Amino acid sequence: MEWSVYFQNPEFMEKTRFHLILPEMEPLVRKWCGIQAGSRVLDVGCGTGYFTRLLARGEPEVHVTGVDMEQPFIDYARRRNEEERLPVAYVQADALALPFEDASFDIVASHTFLTVVDRPAKALREMLRVLRPGGILASVTPMSFYPEAMHPGVYPETCTWAKEFAALHEMLILAYEKIDPAMGHARGAAPAAMPHFLAAAGLERVSAYPLGKLFSLSNATLSVEEKLAWIGYYEASEEKKLDTFMALPEMPDYFSPEQAERYLALLREKCGWLREHLQENKVWEWSGGANLLVTGRKRDLTWINWL
Ligand SMILES: C[S@@+](CC[C@H](N)C(=O)[O-])C[C@H]1O[C@@H](n2cnc3c(N)ncnc32)[C@H](O)[C@@H]1O
Repeated sequence: MEWSVYFQNPEFMEKTRFHLILPEMEPLVRKWCGIQAGSRVLDVGCGTGYFTRLLARGEPEVHVTGVDMEQPFIDYARRRNEEERLPVAYVQADALALPFEDASFDIVASHTFLTVVDRPAKALREMLRVLRPGGILASVTPMSFYPEAMHPGVYPETCTWAKEFAALHEMLILAYEKIDPAMGHARGAAPAAMPHFLAAAGLERVSAYPLGKLFSLSNATLSVEEKLAWIGYYEASEEKKLDTFMALPEMPDYFSPEQAERYLALLREKCGWLREHLQENKVWEWSGGANLLVTGRKRDLTWINWL
């Protein structure tokens, strides 16, 4: 499987989506995004199309376009749509220069995009440009974020691996960022500031809807199977990501092969510990629920022309 330069294998990205939006919430998400029969919808930073597909199910004659800069994600999304045959089209393009006419969509949405894109204000401006006056801008983002959840204090003293693992992890993130700017997890708009971010961009009726599923190993409502699956994806993804980056000639300038080996050993120790303790619901490990939908309406000032 080909890996995207944006840190994730398409297959892996899809698997991590299983805990994001509860299936029974999907109709509500579409309603809150303002989708109606015949809506023209754009999903920016669509990745493998998880949210694009969600937006396209439901109302008749909707047409959804997904845009992402990563060709491997777009290829995956298109292949997948050969089976599901939803009314979606995928376009490979930069969100900072969308290849669409002004005001050509009724709804412009994004899912875990505005928090990761390099220049969130510019991305939002582009999204608003292609949104028609009176249309809805919708953004789903996590309410909690990776670096906040990773600090070593979350583990008991007996976890002797925790401090060293956190230090190596920090170095690794910096190395990834040096080599590939798209790795900057916290580069985009801050999740908690999203309502303000949309309001400051001039949107009206800004509303926030909690989607309700917080993914955390300390979430007692998640089943053992869900948690075990998550640990498996996490471990595999970390290993694969490290492998991919260690093969790059510039990587040893930032992270040595010995450090990589140590990181993997500690990762295994950590995952072993998590598996052993996951029913205790006391560890706040990475929580990645995309659990806040924020929407706003683009002002319709066309009536001014009548004056
Ligand atoms: C965290 S992923 C989310 C993908 C998808 N929305 C989902 O939730 O499954 C963020 C996505 O934004 C895309 N992205 C980041 N910056 C972009 C840009 N400037 N133009 C287009 N896509 C971008 C990445 O390629 C990646 O697919």
